[in-house]
Amino acid sequence: MAPHRNVELKARDLDPERTLRAALADGAEDQGVLVQRDTYFAAREGRLKLREEDGRPSQLIAYSRADEAAARTSAYHLVDVPDPAGLTAALTDALGLVVVVAKRRRLLLRDGVRIHLDDVDGLGAWIELEAVAAPSSDLSEEHAKVARLREVLDMGEEHVVAEGYAALLLEAGAATPRLVELARAAMGRAYAPYSNFAVGVALRDEAGALHSGANVENGSYPQGQCAETSAIGALIAGGGRSIREIAVMADAPLITPCGGCRQRLSEFARAGVPVHLCGPEGIRRTTTMGELLPMSFNLQEARG
Ligand code: THU
Repeated sequence: MAPHRNVELKARDLDPERTLRAALADGAEDQGVLVQRDTYFAAREGRLKLREEDGRPSQLIAYSRADEAAARTSAYHLVDVPDPAGLTAALTDALGLVVVVAKRRRLLLRDGVRIHLDDVDGLGAWIELEAVAAPSSDLSEEHAKVARLREVLDMGEEHVVAEGYAALLLEAGAATPRLVELARAAMGRAYAPYSNFAVGVALRDEAGALHSGANVENGSYPQGQCAETSAIGALIAGGGRSIREIAVMADAPLITPCGGCRQRLSEFARAGVPVHLCGPEGIRRTTTMGELLPMSFNLQEARG
């Protein structure tokens, strides 16, 4: 079946009461408040979430959408799910759970556009416009309707965001405890009989999947490898191509990645990527790739 399509726009809402008044004054119909819980799984192609909603059947939603801070199109499949707990367990095992987004959504309808006034746990108030397209539409009408409502609801450039709620929650640290936990487990499995210095590393990739590695030493000392290098191998073999968050753990005052590993990590991690330097009890300091490796070598940039 061909996917459904819509045109969407999302922005922070600094004054939810005013936004609601403006929507109603414009003639939007209030459909009431929906309590929704979206569980995101680590899909390699596009995005995958299970939506559970009070008083409605659960649905699996598979979709793809460009991350752009502008009105953008989304193509999606909706599948009814009779056993949400069973599906959550199965997909968590098969793909990995990324994050849960819980929200209260006031739904209004205006001229075929869904207006979502969302109150998202951990993220606050947001406005989302969603113009669902007919199969034959060239989307110009949907873009025009979204542009008009954007004016009416005063969704300024500075408040529009490119990412979805799942990415925003991850940026705010929603996966950090699990990342640290994974680094701890890897550290516990390190093979370091020569140095007796065990290191564990965990990485979060662009799909939200987590990967880990430990240092692996060798009786021929130079053949040993660092935990970061092992974790990068797991990332690549697991299908990841971009690192979004890093945790490094050792039982030391402050573990920092060695110079070689900073270069290896920088192949996959931009300057802003957070690096949590951890002891066995948890995070001791958070820094960034850019701070660890300023003026790093990048082959594309070096070639000009
Ligand atoms: N090691 C790592 O695994 N990561 C680092 O960032 C620093 C050092 C390992 C290499 C070796 O097995 C042990 O720690 C002692 O140097």
